[in-house]
Amino acid sequence: MSDPVEFVIRGGRIVDTDGERSGDVVVSDGRIVAVGPDLRADRVLDAGGCVVAPGFVDLHTHLRQPGKEEAETIETGSRAAALGGFTCVVAMPNTTPAIDSAAVVREVQHLAATALCEVVVSGAITVGRAGEALSPMAEMAQLGVRIFTDDGTGVQDDRLMRRAFEYASGLGVTLAQHCEVTSLSEGTCMHEGEWSARLGLPGQPSEAEELMVMRDIALARLTGGRIHFQHLSSAGSVAMVAAAKAGGLAVTAEATPHHFTLTDAACAGYDPVFKVHPPLRSSGDRDAVREGLRDGTIDAIATDHAPHPIHEKERPFDEAPPGMLGLEYALALAITELNLDVADLVALLSSRPAAIAGVGARHGGPIVEGAPANLVVFDPDATWTIDASGGASRSSNVPYVGRTVRGRVRHTVAGGEAVVIDGNAQR
Ligand code: DOR
Repeated sequence: MSDPVEFVIRGGRIVDTDGERSGDVVVSDGRIVAVGPDLRADRVLDAGGCVVAPGFVDLHTHLRQPGKEEAETIETGSRAAALGGFTCVVAMPNTTPAIDSAAVVREVQHLAATALCEVVVSGAITVGRAGEALSPMAEMAQLGVRIFTDDGTGVQDDRLMRRAFEYASGLGVTLAQHCEVTSLSEGTCMHEGEWSARLGLPGQPSEAEELMVMRDIALARLTGGRIHFQHLSSAGSVAMVAAAKAGGLAVTAEATPHHFTLTDAACAGYDPVFKVHPPLRSSGDRDAVREGLRDGTIDAIATDHAPHPIHEKERPFDEAPPGMLGLEYALALAITELNLDVADLVALLSSRPAAIAGVGARHGGPIVEGAPANLVVFDPDATWTIDASGGASRSSNVPYVGRTVRGRVRHTVAGGEAVVIDGNAQR
């Protein structure tokens, strides 16, 4: 992916794990070759008024390949990622077939070789994500898979999950859980509360998530293993993660832009664009997720970018598939909704998810001479209004249409290549 042309990112405010400073950044042959004042190169990317940060890492992206190319492909999804400032995304394994064997991992890795950002493949915990038998995690780990999840569903069986913890610890890989107890969530399509009662839609209680968070914390304690909680949506879950961390357990968590922005009230018009798993919950839950992001209980912002074709998403609310787009909106929603210091914002989007994904050597690290050139340049003050197009995604299930937000990506440099310049994808 490297670009032979040397270029300089000029006039920005550098924000990374080393702090904040002004300076230019010269990129050549895939690496940062100089950082300092008044640097020159053949080509200039203007960063005036912008933050220059390590490229973002999304722990939770549905790229739909193989099997659902009408919704998204690795090419279109990675273009959306680059436009959103992401230089690395973790591709979820709920594809068709599921990513549950070395053969499928190899196929996705091959398809990802020409993507506009690094695509890290995650593997399923159980064969076919069916929750019955452990997948061949070792053969997938040998190909570099570091995160295993049955995302879209949680592993229901306690004993199987215990064995997954033990197996994963031995391999040095991380388990990520979509926490949802299906005996409480089956047949539901939104959060159980005042709005589900009013709308007459079957609701799932927060406890459907919380019971699995609770069980996995218990299993982390029992096995000494590591667990990453995906897309936390409830105040109770956030409190349990805080307590587990305080107790010294190896627990991490992510939250999505939709769970820190929207509530179940959005479902009032029965528009399936607001249907998602876990569901949008109460304003108290949303506020707890926000606070968890601010106080460090939640380690990372992850998009759960979940494209679905229009003809599927525009079915009645209870029949439509769950999920919404996120890659091109995450930064702006985080800036607009969370009121964070820029350094904290950057950490939630880059260094912390990079560490969880095991890509910290290439992404999220300090912007210094010799480091791999995975960078984002964004204007934190640029305002824009989200439209219904879906951006570069093949799908357009956008729940934020008409919302005016602050913060926009100007340039993205992935693997040394300027893949986005002035807000335009270069291929
Ligand atoms: O809303 C969701 N959509 N939640 C998930 O866990 C899966 C995802 C999808 O794959 O569409």
